Amino acid sequence: MTDRRQFIALAGLATAGLLLPRRLLALGTPDPVPMTVYKSPTCGCCGKWVDHVKGNGFAPRVIDVADPARLDEIKTTSGVPEALRSCHVALVGSYAVEGHVPADLIHKMLREKPQGRGLAVPGMVTGSPGMEVPGSPATKYDVLLFQRDGKTTVYASR
Ligand code: CU
Ligand code: CU
Repeated sequence: MTDRRQFIALAGLATAGLLLPRRLLALGTPDPVPMTVYKSPTCGCCGKWVDHVKGNGFAPRVIDVADPARLDEIKTTSGVPEALRSCHVALVGSYAVEGHVPADLIHKMLREKPQGRGLAVPGMVTGSPGMEVPGSPATKYDVLLFQRDGKTTVYASR
């Protein structure tokens, strides 16, 4: 009986020992957040933005859409107002992310869950993630929280 108990106790310790480092590791680095990115196959800045989110806690699934009309259609069904459109669109959680939005603000949105359809950086702003131009000073820009009806508020300024 004592042997059996000892065995169970030892087995329990061994299991705990095996599981502990894994749990600590998991606590240190949270799993990357899945996202789907729709972009033109020939857009260089879109690819750079994908690299930016990849390096900042997201696991993007990239879908190249060669037909611009089809990409536009995806933005329409995703609820991105026409006036805010730039290049790629990403779907993450229940939100849409249009253009060169910084990854940390997407994380913030997913944490804060603001009422809205998503975030957008209209236009292709020099200095925004994926739009860095060596030697050119970064332009200041607003990251907009938008609603399906096209109303926007400034979510952050960079
Ligand atoms: Cu772009
Ligand atoms: Cu893009």
